[in-house]
Amino acid sequence: MKRILYSLLTSILLVLAGVAGYGYFLLDEHLPGTPAVDANTGGQVARGAYLARAGNCMGCHTMRGGDAYAGGRVIQSEFGNFLTPNITADVNYGIGAWSAEDFWQALHNGKSKDGRMLYPAFPFANYSQITRTDSDALFAYFKTVKPVARENQPHDLRFPYNQRILLAFWRALYFRPGVYQNNTQQTTEWNRGAYLVNGLAHCSACHSSRNVLGANGGSHDLSGGALPMVNWYAPSLLAQDEAGVLHWQPAQLQALLKTGVSQHSVASGPMAEVVAGSLQYLTATDIAAMGTYLQALPVSKTAAADMLDKALKAPELGKEQMAMLMQQGASLYKTHCADCHGANGSGVASIYPALASNRAVQMQNATNPLRIILAGGFAPATEANPRPYGMPPFGPVLSDAEVAIVLSYVRNAWGNQASVITAAEVNRYRTAPLD
Ligand code: HEC
Ligand code: HEC
Ligand code: HEC
Repeated sequence: MKRILYSLLTSILLVLAGVAGYGYFLLDEHLPGTPAVDANTGGQVARGAYLARAGNCMGCHTMRGGDAYAGGRVIQSEFGNFLTPNITADVNYGIGAWSAEDFWQALHNGKSKDGRMLYPAFPFANYSQITRTDSDALFAYFKTVKPVARENQPHDLRFPYNQRILLAFWRALYFRPGVYQNNTQQTTEWNRGAYLVNGLAHCSACHSSRNVLGANGGSHDLSGGALPMVNWYAPSLLAQDEAGVLHWQPAQLQALLKTGVSQHSVASGPMAEVVAGSLQYLTATDIAAMGTYLQALPVSKTAAADMLDKALKAPELGKEQMAMLMQQGASLYKTHCADCHGANGSGVASIYPALASNRAVQMQNATNPLRIILAGGFAPATEANPRPYGMPPFGPVLSDAEVAIVLSYVRNAWGNQASVITAAEVNRYRTAPLD
């Protein structure tokens, strides 16, 4: 009996690991701006403001149309909704009465002022890597944030996930607090990149698999992860057929991170939010350091992709059927897509992404191109690219079969090669929320 109970609890906790589940921020939001400041100059407060950008604290702790950092933003997860707390300097409702030590305990150790264990929807497993000096700078900055008297609301989580006590198990299984340790075999730049990517910038909160029962719960290996609540897939940063950047020109990678567009790719959806709310404010030096680290990541194929690959594998088509599909696809493409993406899929550099030789289009997991075709998309608005060109939604215009055909075409035209998409697959995304 005890064993059954234990394994039940364990499964619940493994699922809870997925509570690291990430929210998705709508693109039309304009959050209050903070001027970019250099990481290493200026006083402690300015440094803290910069670090808050690197951690994208505002993105989660500000609700639509609300005051900066006053919380109330809903973060959806499979377990219910999290409502982010007020972290302004308000003494009653925010963290105005906190000490630097309380703040450190939250970031480094995932515990609130009163000792409550915090949910990993707050990416403290990443923030734990922050140095005490950086935590103190962040704290100094948050002391200066305009106090807002907005009371926190409780999270709206299903049983048993609403039992905070269960987090003790999650922590025992997955969480080891620890400040980033310099790797002496590597350059200062690589170490700076590793510190940012794995710590403040919490790339692994999305780019790692979290929700496979048992396996990989709590992993931070950047091997790709689904964001099921928002129908996006954060591709593997290790796999060269997904978002690995081993062979990129450093300048192109830096452009993607800093401006959301590069010559060959664009940031969309949640990634566009990351660029708009955080990365665009980082200094060229820090962006370059992140790029150096990303380009040195070990190369591998992703378990997540393999898994989804099997789930999504479309039926094999015969030669004749394939030719017919390509013919119909070409005609739909010409009518609806060629004006922007070019007759031969070559796009217009930094405006309309090329679809030929585009990895995002050919990934086994077709979630992202599918939802972009159905719901449209925007690259992030950044200082460097204030008015990004948009992709109109075709969900209202094309039938499931037409979307399946045109995407299958795009995945197999101009030298592209990827599995065919079925109408049923399109329908799954049409009926799921696409916000
Ligand atoms: C991905 C969304 C997300 C990001 C990014 C994020 N937070 Fe949070 N944060 C949360 C959530 C959700 C909670 C509530 C956790 C809970 O109730 O257990 C939280 C809780 C906190 C708390 C504890 C508040 C309390 O009253 O106990 C502090 C302090 C905090 N965050 C500071 C920060 C700082 C500083 C940053 C940026 C470095 C940041 N957060 C970035 C989602 C986020
Ligand atoms: C909120 C979730 C989230 C976070 C946090 C996040 N990403 Fe992403 N990322 C995504 C999604 C979803 C995609 C796929 C959509 C796209 O291609 O833009 C993506 C795509 C990418 C791509 C491929 C872009 C392309 O078109 O080739 C790179 C590279 C990338 N992310 C790097 C990073 C890095 C580095 C960080 C940390 C600084 C990061 N991401 C943080 C969700 C996220
Ligand atoms: C009005 C111009 C326009 C038209 C018409 C258009 N697109 Fe797009 N498309 C864009 C833009 C701009 C983006 C970048 C959006 C973003 O960053 O989220 C894009 C992105 C995409 C992507 C994602 C590429 C990537 O690298 O992530 C796919 C796939 C795509 N379009 C396919 C199509 C298909 C198929 C059609 C026709 C049914 C079409 N587009 C019609 C402008 C257009």
